[in-house]
Amino acid sequence: MLYKSFKASLAGLAIIGSFSIAGPAAATVNKETITNNERVAGLRMTKELFGKMPDGTPVDKYVLTNVHKVRVGILTYGGIIQSIVVPDKNGKLQDVALGFDNLDQYIEESPYFGAIIGRYGNRIAKGQFKLDGKQYQVPTNDGPNALHGGPKGFDKELWAASPIEGANWVGVELTYLSPDGQMGFPGNLEVTVRYTLDNDNELAIHYSAVTDQDTIVNLTNHTYFNLAGAGNGNVLDQIAMINANEFTLVDKPLIPTGEMQDVKGTPLDFTKPMAIGTKIHSDNDQLKNAEPKQGGYDFNWILNNPGDQNALAARVTDPESGRTVEMYTTEPAVQFYTGNFLDGALKGKNGLTYEHWGAFTLEAQHYPDSPNHTSFPSTELRPGGKYTQTTIYKFLPM
Ligand code: GLA
Repeated sequence: MLYKSFKASLAGLAIIGSFSIAGPAAATVNKETITNNERVAGLRMTKELFGKMPDGTPVDKYVLTNVHKVRVGILTYGGIIQSIVVPDKNGKLQDVALGFDNLDQYIEESPYFGAIIGRYGNRIAKGQFKLDGKQYQVPTNDGPNALHGGPKGFDKELWAASPIEGANWVGVELTYLSPDGQMGFPGNLEVTVRYTLDNDNELAIHYSAVTDQDTIVNLTNHTYFNLAGAGNGNVLDQIAMINANEFTLVDKPLIPTGEMQDVKGTPLDFTKPMAIGTKIHSDNDQLKNAEPKQGGYDFNWILNNPGDQNALAARVTDPESGRTVEMYTTEPAVQFYTGNFLDGALKGKNGLTYEHWGAFTLEAQHYPDSPNHTSFPSTELRPGGKYTQTTIYKFLPM
């Protein structure tokens, strides 16, 4: 159903003439309505200046709004989802995405809040891999390993943006050309990411990429969710279901050993809904690899219906507010991470702080370190081929 409706939406896709508020007007024109389907479908899109890069380049924020008052803010810096405002069971609106309200903090101290991750999401052991018999070394930035595309991944780049819309959705199309050799990866990679919001409360992320040389690609989005509201305590009482019978076993620096492990009998069994905090403190080697002191989740679950966008991949509910997010994806796996590196030090939006376990992520992805494991689904992309991914976050209640 979801896939069909997305395809139908794409068929009706229109790129609306690109819109610019550059120049002297930028400082005074605070917010512009770019499109307003309100009479037809209750959908709106606005654009405002969010901040300026150190060299003065403006960074815009696009805001997509639907008939249920769901509001999603997207930045041209890092393709970051800066806010997701959704109602609770009583209609109370709250922002459930962690982040900052100024660009400087995103540039200086963001732990990937809301960002597009690439060229290779998650870890590559020692930053090394072989492709077509050639050995590559990419920069390491997580102990001895490479994480999330290296020290300057796609999350720290400026993306070109155009508003897009269909009959029943609004969106923004972001594009970025990652040059050959950037962060050590071969091939010019042209990446397109489309964020769309419809009146079924589906925030869809549609990725595609093409290359002119053999390369590796693993894209994801790194939104940190707290369904009780960003900055409103931790997520231990929120109830998670992950439709996965297995996960990739990892060693201490969170590199897969190559073995798949059954979740049964482990604290990683979320096949039946379970509060995130129920087993987070268990005496378990995997949990300790992710968070040695207090335990935490930071693993790659292998989805039971890989590639099937109609199958529910994961669902998390906050029992108190009734807010729920469901994830559907064409990717074979999901990294579920419980904000183990948050410690209350970052000052987030509205001056709120983000405590330990103050969020969870649902990063749809290929397995970590795939280039070094021939048994894992391949992340190679060749000229003439096309990388595609669609991931949908659906918010309830409506
Ligand atoms: C992913 C990783 C984590 C951590 C976060 C960002 O979820 O798996 O280990 O790096 O990103 O801090």
